[in-house]
Formats: sequence, C-alpha cells, structure tokens
Amino acid sequence: MLNIGIILGSVRETRNGEAVTHWIHDFAEKRNDDVTYEIVDLADYQLPLLGQVVPGTQVQEAEASVKAWSEKMASFDGYIIVAPEYNHAVGGALKNALDHLKPEVANKAAGLVGYGSLGGTRAHENLRLIFGELQVADVQTAVTFSLMTDFENFSVFKPADYHADNANKMLDQVIAWSGALKQVRENAEAVTN
Ligand SMILES: Cc1cc2nc3c(=O)[nH]c(=O)nc-3n(C[C@H](O)[C@H](O)[C@H](O)COP(=O)(O)O)c2cc1C
Repeated sequence: MLNIGIILGSVRETRNGEAVTHWIHDFAEKRNDDVTYEIVDLADYQLPLLGQVVPGTQVQEAEASVKAWSEKMASFDGYIIVAPEYNHAVGGALKNALDHLKPEVANKAAGLVGYGSLGGTRAHENLRLIFGELQVADVQTAVTFSLMTDFENFSVFKPADYHADNANKMLDQVIAWSGALKQVRENAEAVTN
C-alpha cells in the first residue's frame, strides 16, 4: 500500500486550487488503486517564510507549523502537486513550502496538476527544476487545466472530459515510480544501517 499526498498549492482566499484538488482526489480514489490518497492543504499550515525572524510569541507556533508540514510530507511515498501559475512561475506559497523540505521528499515521485491561461505549464517547468534539486522524480505526464476552457468565468471549475486520459497516465506513472522509489529508500536504509 502506497501513501500519496495531494498538495493544494495555493493559499489564496478565493483560490481555484480547491476545486481542482478535490477533482483529482476524487478521480484518483475512484480508480481503486492500492493507494491511500490524502489532500494536504498548504493553508492549514501557516508556514513562515523560510528563515524569517518571527516575533516573540509566535515563534513556537511557527516552529510547530514547520514541524507538522515536514512530518506530513515525510509520511508519503509520492505526491500530486496541484500548482497554480503566478507570473509565469510556481506560486510563492508553494515555493516557500518546498524550501522547508529536503530529506522528507528525496527519492520520492511527483505528478503535476496545473491550471492557468496555459494550463499552469510554466509553473510545472519551474517545479521540475526545483524537484531536480530536491531529488524528487517528477513524472512526464501532467494534467493541465485552462482557465479559459475548463472554468466558467475563470472561477467555476468545469473540466473537459479529455483530461481523464492524462490524469490516468499521470497517476499510473506516479504509482509505478512511488513503488520503485520506496524500494530504493529501503535499500539505502539497509546500506546505511
Ligand atoms: C499574482 C498572480 C499572477 C498570475 N500570473 C499568471 C500567469 O503568469 N500565467 C497564468 O496562466 N495565470 C496567471 N495568473 C492566474 C492564475 O493562474 C489563476 O488566478 C489561478 O486561479 C490561481 O490559482 P488559485 O486561484 O488557486 O490561487 C495569475 C494570478 C495571480 C493572482
């Protein structure tokens, strides 16, 4: 049994990311894979900016948020990242959240889901660079929703049917690589123990 986290990568109050995240979660659940899927909402963590000096009384809260985020991300074998595109790049909240991690995500797989005027593809290319450094294996197939054709008035999510093909391919790839990399991590542990 694999554990895969579905990361809601926007914390904006009126975010479209919520509907997209629930769509991919429901889609994945219906496949009946031997996988536990769990949504992780960045907004639940209130992460400080990396290295930020947090005022006196808030230090413990900030440390607890970082610890909870790190432990949650460490608990998964793989990830589906639901990424908005801001200014032709990954959004700041998601970038900051990833900056807090390294060993927690190393040697694990990730699939990308995006949305934006070009389906969030520029955020995805940006994420692939970041994942290279974090030793996260991002799979080839991505699911890319257009703000123009998969949303009404840029805000009501109505995805076209054809996305199901890519969603299935992406999930197949993430599951295959998450399983393979679990073995890699177990072998590495055996070598170091
Ligand atoms: C600050 C900002 C910059 C944006 N820049 C882009 C962009 O460069 N390309 C794009 O396709 N969409 C861009 N958008 C549109 C967002 O992708 C769209 O609003 C999306 O719904 C944001 O995700 P969220 O609603 O989950 O926060 C931008 C939105 C914001 C708020």
